[in-house]
Amino acid sequence: MSDKNSNHSDGQSRREAGPCGDAAGTKNFFKVLNLRKSIGEQKILRGVDLNIRRGETMVVIGRSGEGKSVFLKHLIGLMKPDSGSIVVEGKEVVGLKERQLRAVRHKVGILFQDGALFDSMTVAENVAFPLMEAGVKDRTVLLERVGQALDKVELAAHMAKMPINISGGMRKRVALARAIIAEPQCILYDEPTSGLDPVVSESIDRLIRRMQKELCVTSLVVTHDMDSVFRIADRVAYLREGKIYFLGTPQELRNSKDRFVRSFVEGRQIEDED
Ligand SMILES: Nc1ncnc2c1ncn2[C@@H]1O[C@H](COP(=O)(O)OP(=O)(O)OP(=O)(O)O)[C@@H](O)[C@H]1O
Ligand SMILES: [Mg+2]
Repeated sequence: MSDKNSNHSDGQSRREAGPCGDAAGTKNFFKVLNLRKSIGEQKILRGVDLNIRRGETMVVIGRSGEGKSVFLKHLIGLMKPDSGSIVVEGKEVVGLKERQLRAVRHKVGILFQDGALFDSMTVAENVAFPLMEAGVKDRTVLLERVGQALDKVELAAHMAKMPINISGGMRKRVALARAIIAEPQCILYDEPTSGLDPVVSESIDRLIRRMQKELCVTSLVVTHDMDSVFRIADRVAYLREGKIYFLGTPQELRNSKDRFVRSFVEGRQIEDED
């Protein structure tokens, strides 16, 4: 039998000092407490508790349909919880009006699972969107920043194309460029490497790491890709049955003896116990 509480080490062992001058490594960007969400009859989030420290890369894993994307959308108010609390840099965001949420969204870039590009805009216009929202109007500045962001995902040559005329993996990378262009304090990545070839996946992982190191970005990455988990995570949270079932460092994840954790990490079915 698994003792759920024993799965929470909080990952302190690897992080005596936090990144980005936060010596204690304990300041939270997000503080999520007892978050609950049902849609219709389905209880999706059943009391999620999770703190994401400023400057860290937190990876959220979990089986398909467990509620990872739903959780991500709650963090920036795109979905409203039934109950619980989400504090972003010290400010409660549950219950805020759309207008007040805008300030939160300016701090946070998001890469949606499906990319969510605007079909009627070119690649360049899609990528420029967050900057224009932030009030940047100078075309020369916009073009330069778009070029730089697209360079990071190796797509600068494709900026004039429409989303429909590029591949699925390229669309994902355009969405990634759009998520990072405004250099937000925090980036939420929903499956940034799914559908990408291994070489590109690795370069995206490097980009995520670089954003963290150079810009001190706080990152939350949802992924199924275990190679990616071990490349990028400072800590890993395993969402299971609507709660954070395991929280710890990648090393602790690797060493876990819990059968549900093992089954996920090793990608095999749980065998029934009689
Ligand atoms: N807008 C919605 N309306 C109804 N049900 C929804 C909605 N959004 C999500 N769900 C349901 O919530 C559950 C969790 O969905 P979610 O997209 O968060 O899963 P996930 O963990 O991200 O899965 P995957 O790994 O496949 O992306 C699913 O059963 C899904 O059908
Ligand atoms: Mg999802």
